Amino acid sequence: MYDSYNRHITYLRISVTDRCNLACKYCMPEQVKGVLRGSEIQDFEEITQIVRTLAPLGISKIRLTGGEPLVRKGLDELIRMISGIDGIREITMTTNGLLLAGMAHRLALAGLDRVNISLDTLDPDRYREITRGGDIRRVKAGIDSALKAGLNPLKINCVITPDTTAGEIEKLKEYCHSNDLGLRFIRQMNLGTGKFWKVEGGEGGHCRICNRIRLTADGRFIPCLFSEKEFGIREHGIEGAFTRAIQQKPEKGRVNSRNTFYSIGG
Ligand code: 5AD
Ligand code: SF4
Repeated sequence: MYDSYNRHITYLRISVTDRCNLACKYCMPEQVKGVLRGSEIQDFEEITQIVRTLAPLGISKIRLTGGEPLVRKGLDELIRMISGIDGIREITMTTNGLLLAGMAHRLALAGLDRVNISLDTLDPDRYREITRGGDIRRVKAGIDSALKAGLNPLKINCVITPDTTAGEIEKLKEYCHSNDLGLRFIRQMNLGTGKFWKVEGGEGGHCRICNRIRLTADGRFIPCLFSEKEFGIREHGIEGAFTRAIQQKPEKGRVNSRNTFYSIGG
């Protein structure tokens, strides 16, 4: 389906949970670990039905996000369900990698094509500080497993914060180069200011060619990160909510009072 600015919307980012096993400083307000109740979260059948409805309307690429998608139990089952749908050509996931080591193989078997892994530094202490407690060894183990499972090309997402040093960036570049990983730098955003940057080495932030739409874990379509508009499936139905979201997708991102990322998957 085309939006009002003639952009062909083919890419759906599905948040499968608003919970996360980390609490990165730039993403989660302190104390929050996800706020939706279990009953508000869409089950795998509902998500599958949404993808089944949207594939004939032009959605061909799915990215699973969170929160942290892998805290959702049995995620490989969801991947299996949506990878069988006609017209779905690619399924990817954005994860912090902590739970990946034990799961990469099963996810790949279920039909996951690729993963992006969030890793902002290689310094274990800095990592623990940024993520409020994360163990970087588990992320590295997750990266190794993902590579072994064939989930590539594997990309690292690195959020540049005011504290990021040139030395850290250099080390990440070397690590990615020697492990054959792609690396994308994402500048820390503050949704409230309305300022945002293009994602270096990625497609995010190019409003003119933006082909994406987001679905929250509780079933609302969000046409743009920098817009307050949202359209609930409960209110409008799958097709109604999707169509409205696409018709109202803004030409460019602007200010947003949402001000958090954890529920919308970055
Ligand atoms: N600014 C930029 N990107 C963010 N993400 C989360 N919070 C922010 C923020 N404030 C993105 C990062 C991270 C992914 C899970 O969400 O890319 O890797
Ligand atoms: Fe979790 Fe990712 Fe947000 Fe960090 S950036 S708190 S890993 S969702």
